[in-house]
Amino acid sequence: MSDKNHATVAVTGVTGALGSRIAARLADHGVPQLLVGRTPDRMPELPGAQRRGPAAYADAADMRRALQGASTLILVSGHRTGRRLEEHATAVEAAIAVGVGRVLYVSLVSAAPTATHVNARDQWLTEQFLAGTEIRHTVLRAGFYAATPAALANEELVVSGPAPTGRAAFVTHEDIADVITAVAIEDGPRSEHDGATLEITGPEALTLDEAVTRIAAATGRPYRYEPETLEEAFARRWRLGMSGEQIETWISWYQAIERGEVSVVTDVVPRLTGSPATPISNAAWWPAPNTARGTAELRRKHS
Ligand SMILES: NC(=O)c1ccc[n+]([C@@H]2O[C@H](COP(=O)([O-])OP(=O)(O)OC[C@H]3O[C@@H](n4cnc5c(N)ncnc54)[C@H](OP(=O)(O)O)[C@@H]3O)[C@@H](O)[C@H]2O)c1
Repeated sequence: MSDKNHATVAVTGVTGALGSRIAARLADHGVPQLLVGRTPDRMPELPGAQRRGPAAYADAADMRRALQGASTLILVSGHRTGRRLEEHATAVEAAIAVGVGRVLYVSLVSAAPTATHVNARDQWLTEQFLAGTEIRHTVLRAGFYAATPAALANEELVVSGPAPTGRAAFVTHEDIADVITAVAIEDGPRSEHDGATLEITGPEALTLDEAVTRIAAATGRPYRYEPETLEEAFARRWRLGMSGEQIETWISWYQAIERGEVSVVTDVVPRLTGSPATPISNAAWWPAPNTARGTAELRRKHS
């Protein structure tokens, strides 16, 4: 616990995997927080934290109310809805309207208008929106999660997709949360990270086969990767009942790996946290099979 007097930080996404970890770290540093989201009952109870909401990103009035009193907003990107830019922009405009001084936006590596991964295209739109505002901001591009391959595995622990040779610098939620916390606790009228885009990656770029083999070794469970052609990948997901949008999202995740768009390894984790980035084998947790977004909903639909 720090004895420094910190300004108040609003954190969104605190009912989720990343936001909850950021909020827990800020509480450990003694930072006063506003936890902002759609379901206050599901938010963690943390010292120095007030729960605010219900507030969805798209609801300007609720967001303005929830953000009242914050100096910094950590905006964890929301789920893909087809209106993600409008939702994020509304949240940022609400922050500006109530005098929040700084936004830390959690984006995605490879964000670009031409990105292969559809989510990275969405994220780029919010980055562009932020660049056109006057508010101080830092873009924190999270690498592909180390947790995702385990969540994509089926009941037989097989991860299948069209990425036989490409690499990704998978990064843990814990390392991402540590970096964002380090930037958030830089109080003061200016930060060296104002206007910066930080790419938060793991320590090495792994093929999916290597990543899944390491998860198998670390868990003692027989996870394995099986390459699929694009046609096989599409047909299998279609047979499972995925929507076109879900198929496109997931296939583009594998293709971004295959095309080398998420393989860059940066020094952001060691530079900002003082500790080396965590290898996938040392990840603190692996989600259960079939829990990736889209696949989890399918499982519920068919059960
Ligand atoms: N880097 C990667 O590999 C990767 C992978 C997957 C996702 N992502 C992105 O990173 C974000 C955070 O990841 P995560 O693992 O923490 O995801 P998560 O566990 O699904 O949590 C997402 C959080 O965002 C909140 N949220 C979503 N849409 C919202 C909206 N319209 N208004 C207000 N709150 C909203 C959710 O609140 P509720 O509880 O109300 O739903 C939840 O708290 C994801 O939302 C996604 O944009 C990155």
